[in-house]
Amino acid sequence: MRTHRIAVLPGDGIGEEVVREGLRVLDAVAEMEGFTVERTVYPHGADHYLETGETLPESVFEEMAGMEAILLGAIGDPRVETGFLERAIIWGVRQTFDLYVNLRPVKLYSEALCPLKNKGPEDVDLVVVRENTEDAYAGLGGIHRIGTPHEVAIAEMIYTRNGVERVIRYAFQYAAKRNKGGAPKVTLVDKANAIRAQDLWTRVFAEVASEFPTVETDHAYIDAACMWMVKNPEWFDVVVTPNLFGDILTDLGAMVQGGMGIAASGNIHPGRVSMFEPIHGSAPKYRGQNKASPIATIEAVRMMLEHIGESAGADRVGNAVRDALAGGRIKSLSAGAHATDEVGDIVLAYLQENAPTS
Ligand code: IPM
Ligand code: MG
Repeated sequence: MRTHRIAVLPGDGIGEEVVREGLRVLDAVAEMEGFTVERTVYPHGADHYLETGETLPESVFEEMAGMEAILLGAIGDPRVETGFLERAIIWGVRQTFDLYVNLRPVKLYSEALCPLKNKGPEDVDLVVVRENTEDAYAGLGGIHRIGTPHEVAIAEMIYTRNGVERVIRYAFQYAAKRNKGGAPKVTLVDKANAIRAQDLWTRVFAEVASEFPTVETDHAYIDAACMWMVKNPEWFDVVVTPNLFGDILTDLGAMVQGGMGIAASGNIHPGRVSMFEPIHGSAPKYRGQNKASPIATIEAVRMMLEHIGESAGADRVGNAVRDALAGGRIKSLSAGAHATDEVGDIVLAYLQENAPTS
């Protein structure tokens, strides 16, 4: 039997609850498709840090390096200094494993979930390819003369030719095989009119585009892209953008597809261990209350299945989520609209229902 080795890091806040539902779906799919998943669960996150002083130790990174994927719930806790655990764990994994693509689908399954007037599933179906290892996140900079009137705070936006080129090439390859219908299109989203360092993105985009004559290209500045994504989301197919803009644009995208309760992401380095997570945070106020939507984590499981080569299983999950949302069984993805485990039950029911009886 095929065996996949994955790491599970439920993390903080609602992480544990949503990951529990994601794993129920993973187990059901594994049984249907005839593979097994060997899971190592890691306790790291805020509680573990407060007890032991440890974030994510070197030994865990070494173990993860030998696995196919990591499923992460959420990281972040108000008891710990802002950004400390996020940097050590989320950014730590992204950097250590050089997960240069942050793949974030924005897909609407039911008009009822969309806050935009007169937009339906046919209008909202795009994928953001967010660069995931550079930009203002790289950590170059600091704070000097802290607390004085002469304080200086610097965060450099770093782009390397290699870093820009590989993520743009991934976006074109993805668009070429995505098959949304009509000619595939990649839109570059940047702010090269104000941030001239992003001229590197403009030039590399044109170079890589010339390798893909069947893929159309488009461009929007980030401010305008936010506007168009609300007004005309149907214009977008694949969007490629630097790290920080991708972070912002995908929260906007999450709302357009129904809320943070559905938006998932893959931190990917093709062919290497990669990390899959809901894009929402740890929402500490909902911890342990069985209120958070697990759909985003279930969608992260779908993306993980795709990454580990279980496409048929990934399709099963995608179809079950689609049916649960389009069929109206799940009315809202907001916290408290349904119980966390109730949503898991509904998705599992659709999984079984859709399964061929042989
Ligand atoms: C995300 C998150 C993270 C990011 C935070 C938690 C560091 O917002 O994955 O979108 O900005 O990348
Ligand atoms: Mg974010």
